[in-house]
Amino acid sequence: MENIMQMVKEAASYIKSRIDFKPEIAVILGSGLGPLAGKVNNQIIIKYSEIPHFKTSTVAGHAGELIAGTISGRRVLVMNGRFHYYEGHPMETVTLPVRVFAMLGIRDILVTNAAGGIKDSLRPGSIMLINDHLGFMCPSPLIGINLDEFGPRFPDMSQVYDRTLLKLAHRVADDNGITVDEGVYCYFRGPQYETPAEIRAVRMLGADAAGMSTVPEAIVARHCGMRILGISLITNKAAGLGNTELSHAEVNETAHRAEHNMVMLVQNIISEWK
Ligand code: HPA
Repeated sequence: MENIMQMVKEAASYIKSRIDFKPEIAVILGSGLGPLAGKVNNQIIIKYSEIPHFKTSTVAGHAGELIAGTISGRRVLVMNGRFHYYEGHPMETVTLPVRVFAMLGIRDILVTNAAGGIKDSLRPGSIMLINDHLGFMCPSPLIGINLDEFGPRFPDMSQVYDRTLLKLAHRVADDNGITVDEGVYCYFRGPQYETPAEIRAVRMLGADAAGMSTVPEAIVARHCGMRILGISLITNKAAGLGNTELSHAEVNETAHRAEHNMVMLVQNIISEWK
């Protein structure tokens, strides 16, 4: 585990050598949400292939670039494309960027994703603010020797998603006439989409949306003591709840159609972030 710390340090010091300011907020962009990256001003683009220990993204719709700059005057570091467990990366690789952000002194993180809607009110194009997650299908990224520099062996998870940021996101949405929902995100490892039986099962357990990311990063961010805001863009009805088969093309298409609202919401949230 010593070598995770080494990897984090090497990646962080490389990024530091490329940017001349201290970012305040990290942003992780999910499937099809890449266009948000275009809203970063004074961009410095660092390809993942240049950063020690970062993997290249293998998923269509995930660019594989870290973008430093400003959004509405706030200093941000944006991951355009993330790493997923289903790509074959160990969890420590999936979550490496989050620890790098923590080492760079970033205290706040905005995590976005595309997800399937389970709750009836969630339709393709809906936006759901994440208020909690079901992570029992997620191999813990904290397994192994604890990295005491970041956080405790048994970190509390009773409030993963920061209440203040959640409130702020609701208010910003209201102010801008953007309808948002709120709910529980349920992690599936993927890459296959869920079966209708799996969706019925997790619905009974309290899941409102299903997806293949976010939870590993949120667990590590929480372990590091970061404040987290999570936003899901609902790209489809979850398996068995709609009348079409699920496909990545559909996910990206819907994300593209809903992009305008999502970009506006995120920009405004960042400008009022406190
Ligand atoms: N399930 C899992 N991941 C997803 C989905 C889904 O229905 N839609 C977008 N990402």
